[in-house]
Amino acid sequence: MASAVVPDLAAGVAADLVPEGGMIQGKVGAENVVLARRGSEFFAVGATCTHYGGPLAKGLFVDDTIRCPWHHACFSLRTGEALRRPAFDPIPHWRVERVDDMVFVRERLPPPVRRPAATSMRGQKPPESVIIVGGGGAGLAAADALRREGYDGPVTVISADGDPPYDRPNLSKDYLAGTAGDEWMPLREPSYYTDQRIDLILKSPVISLDVQQKQLRAADGATYAFDRLLLATGADPIKLPIPGASDSQLSYLRSYADSRALVGKAASAKQVVIVGASFIGLEVAASLRTRGLAIHVVALEEKPLERVMGHELGQFIRGLHEAHGVTFHLQDTISRLEGRRVILRSGTSLDADLVVLGVGVRPACALPEQGGLVVDGGIVVDEYLETSAPGIFAAGDVARWPDPRTGERVRIEHWVFAERQGQVAARNLLGARERFDVVPFFWTQQYGISINYVGHAQTWDETIVDGNLGAKDCAVTFKRAGRPLAVATISRDLQSLQAEAAMEASLRVDPPAD
Ligand SMILES: Cc1cc2nc3c(=O)[nH]c(=O)nc-3n(C[C@H](O)[C@H](O)[C@H](O)COP(=O)(O)OP(=O)(O)OC[C@H]3O[C@@H](n4cnc5c(N)ncnc54)[C@H](O)[C@@H]3O)c2cc1C
Ligand code: FES
Repeated sequence: MASAVVPDLAAGVAADLVPEGGMIQGKVGAENVVLARRGSEFFAVGATCTHYGGPLAKGLFVDDTIRCPWHHACFSLRTGEALRRPAFDPIPHWRVERVDDMVFVRERLPPPVRRPAATSMRGQKPPESVIIVGGGGAGLAAADALRREGYDGPVTVISADGDPPYDRPNLSKDYLAGTAGDEWMPLREPSYYTDQRIDLILKSPVISLDVQQKQLRAADGATYAFDRLLLATGADPIKLPIPGASDSQLSYLRSYADSRALVGKAASAKQVVIVGASFIGLEVAASLRTRGLAIHVVALEEKPLERVMGHELGQFIRGLHEAHGVTFHLQDTISRLEGRRVILRSGTSLDADLVVLGVGVRPACALPEQGGLVVDGGIVVDEYLETSAPGIFAAGDVARWPDPRTGERVRIEHWVFAERQGQVAARNLLGARERFDVVPFFWTQQYGISINYVGHAQTWDETIVDGNLGAKDCAVTFKRAGRPLAVATISRDLQSLQAEAAMEASLRVDPPAD
């Protein structure tokens, strides 16, 4: 079959070749470039997402941004800047010139520059110092956003973790499967923290918050004064008391150290029992199957992930795992351990070299509770992500935020969402008063199949399946009272982006009341 001719954009293409509101991919020298058009305006940017290399030409063009089909990073078509996580680095961009009916991609333009020093945002004095407690997705995104916004004052990130911020979603995926090495894990190079003057303090759990004195104390006794504060402490795995089990027999997965320990244990294991058919439990199942281990999943549900993904996708996920040799013990639970035998409530007994628990997480609220902030199943924040204490913000898994789409206060446990809350919280720390109204997005990947999910449906009264689940090509819409609240897709990345853009647009038409 003849391969399609790739247009040489430097040599020029007919303007009509680029559809209105659409884009084409071509080359400029050796580089793959996307040429996009909105009315009489043309934009040329790099074709590869700087997160994990997603193909931007298969993404979506919204206003003057381009969205990545894989994990929905959003880049400016005007400057190439990574506007919304999960990508940090910009994509290249070029000057475009129109001559009569032809469009030429000319010289490459310099990367976006840091905004000028933030002397004021909405006329406010910039904070004297900012401390971020938590070195996860939200914490790093916030620190990075402070610098991008031109904030020049001291930025300190204090983290209980021993590792600098890393790619947490990968802990249960390629890293655990052994298909990605340690070099994949850090979100930023060590030099980044020095260059950006971000003081990163590791292995330092903060144990006390004095809101009046604006002071923090860490477990080692060190004290830190702050002007503005962001709490991004994430969540901790729920620990189950299991009769007969010693701590060393049970594994949990939240941190890089947990994943390294699991990799070590998996090396000598043959059979694993996973308790909980959560996303993490199932991703662990898929990754350890890749390593050739025998896997049993024990869960209370009738179908894995049914509470989040609904009946149809739950059935699909079960079938997917069974096709890869996983054995489910559903509507059952672990009752005790007898040596290396796991005894289930039903009386079933399973041998296990390794027991992994993936039964959910609890928001890490000890610090805000001690500090007297309002906590109700998470740190309660307003639409600007500000807590009950003025000048103290919260973001990520720990924050309970009012979802403008439903009016419900929700706590969302998604990577990209946590990072985007970190970005907006950072601007609000500087005084921007920007409402957080981002549409939640997450993905899961099991046996090479990605399920993307946009929106948030705690409950729904109707699901509509468009396409064919068996063929791994479908979109499932979750509706309440006729209104779409969330859309899950398999092999329909563009549809996922379109659903997200439609949810964003509906909020613009019908913004939340003040
Ligand atoms: C294995 C795994 C796989 C996942 N896969 C996906 C996925 O595929 N897609 C998806 O959307 N989401 C995924 N998630 C969820 C996602 O990682 C979380 O939603 C996200 O990490 C939340 O970011 P955060 O910054 O709020 O919290 P975290 O990333 O958990 O960071 C919290 C930080 O705070 C620190 N900390 C806590 N308490 C203190 C304290 N008192 N003092 C100092 N530091 C403190 C912690 O050490 C940590 O560094 C996954 C999660 C896990 C564990
Ligand atoms: S590869 Fe583009 S957002 Fe992940």
